[in-house]
Amino acid sequence: MSTKEAVLQALESCSGQYLSGEELSTRLDVSRTTIWKVIKALREEGHIIEAVTNNGYMLMHNNRLITESGVRRGLSAANKDIDIHVFDAVDSTNIEARRLALDGAGDGTLVVTGHQTAGRGRLGRSFYSPREGIYLSIIIKPNFDVSKSVLITCAAAVAVAEAIKEVAGLDARIKWVNDVYIDNRKVCGILTEGISDFESGQIESLVIGIGVNTDVSNFPEELKNIAGAVEGDYSASELAGAIASKVIDYARNMEARTFIDAYRSMNLVIGKRVTVYKGKYKVKPEDEIDGIPATVENIDNNGKLVVVYDDGSKEVLGSGEITIRL
Ligand code: BTN
Repeated sequence: MSTKEAVLQALESCSGQYLSGEELSTRLDVSRTTIWKVIKALREEGHIIEAVTNNGYMLMHNNRLITESGVRRGLSAANKDIDIHVFDAVDSTNIEARRLALDGAGDGTLVVTGHQTAGRGRLGRSFYSPREGIYLSIIIKPNFDVSKSVLITCAAAVAVAEAIKEVAGLDARIKWVNDVYIDNRKVCGILTEGISDFESGQIESLVIGIGVNTDVSNFPEELKNIAGAVEGDYSASELAGAIASKVIDYARNMEARTFIDAYRSMNLVIGKRVTVYKGKYKVKPEDEIDGIPATVENIDNNGKLVVVYDDGSKEVLGSGEITIRL
């Protein structure tokens, strides 16, 4: 371990307390000047380290830097040993997770970055992923019927909203099926992809990709109207860890559906008037189709939307079949 890593680890291990330069130099058996230089280098990397005369140094956790140790801090005890791959930048964490899964990466493997150069969204769209966002993908080896894999997406939305509350203290809501909103603006998108085994044709891994905006002030104009961010004093690494940990826990208990009540209660759409677009989605302008007005009655235990049309007829809709607008 380099001196820099050792200093970082020492500061992390006394979270919320000051550690003096003298104590650090004794522990690591290096000079005070070396400690000073290392602290400077860590700050240049983006770590926020407060220095107080006579007290020493304290690592502040309210930053957007993604580090493996920070991500581990967000994990529950049961998930402390998962494999974590942190990248300064990557094309897409979903693509990277897919590469790792094909290379034999196991259940719960996590890929995290603060910047994607080719982020992917649903329906073949791209996902704008500038620096200082939180982009992660989790590999899940499903022990459940993957025909119900929409449920893992619902679980992931609950995991995100709960983790945002715990780590950043903000109330988030879910728009069916898997967009997470704060103050009526989308702060997170989720893209679940399956990897099938060529010979058996079975889905052998799911990659659950989650992108969280932390600052939209420099977003392009067309996104500024709809996108929001998880703002405030919190650690991006810890939020990534908390989200991943919850996704893994929910996935391992998929049959029990422990998230479904929370999914309903956090959902923005129940009881609302919506427009249902069936069949072809509006990906390009020429794809525009007429929507059908309806009222959302509920979300069933399979994560499907129960709607009542204006003529009184009822329909249960899966996310693959339709899109809705509030
Ligand atoms: C959407 O709202 O369309 C879904 C967006 C999903 C984005 C995340 S960011 C992490 C992971 N990697 C990707 O390329 N996409 C997902």
